[in-house]
Amino acid sequence: MSSTQHETQAAPAAAEGQFEPRIIAFCCNWCSYAGADLAGVSRLQMPTNFLVLRAMCSARVDPEHVLRAFAKGADGVMVLGCHPADCHYIGGNYRTRRRIALLKMLLEQYGLDPNRLKLEWVSASEGLKFQATIKDFVESIREMGPNPLIEAEKEDKAARAKHTH
Ligand code: FES
Repeated sequence: MSSTQHETQAAPAAAEGQFEPRIIAFCCNWCSYAGADLAGVSRLQMPTNFLVLRAMCSARVDPEHVLRAFAKGADGVMVLGCHPADCHYIGGNYRTRRRIALLKMLLEQYGLDPNRLKLEWVSASEGLKFQATIKDFVESIREMGPNPLIEAEKEDKAARAKHTH
């Protein structure tokens, strides 16, 4: 993931035993990242369950990045880009839109709810929209529960450990 940068990280403040979703938010550099920044400097209240990764364009987010995020334990992944017709690289976000639709189908094959992946357009002036998008997504993932791939892996490990004793 050479052109993405790790920008912010906040550990969710979880009450003991309470599920706190872990969200990865890929933001394009020219619009959505600036929108996220605006939400931050405007001190808009948001859950701290998300990690922002900056990519030059939403189209730079490779499907592999998304799949790897889920495989590594993300409960939800968001891809945020410029509004249609506003992409800095002309048509990157149209490509992203098609790619996300395909990825959602792929997630279903893996047994993941496709709604764990969300695409949204957020411009540099839409700090409020960024805030609302994050809040809604965190809540929807909270309702869905933890990433079932990770849960299944934990159960497998526990079963194997039991057999070896
Ligand atoms: S630069 Fe923002 S989606 Fe392409």
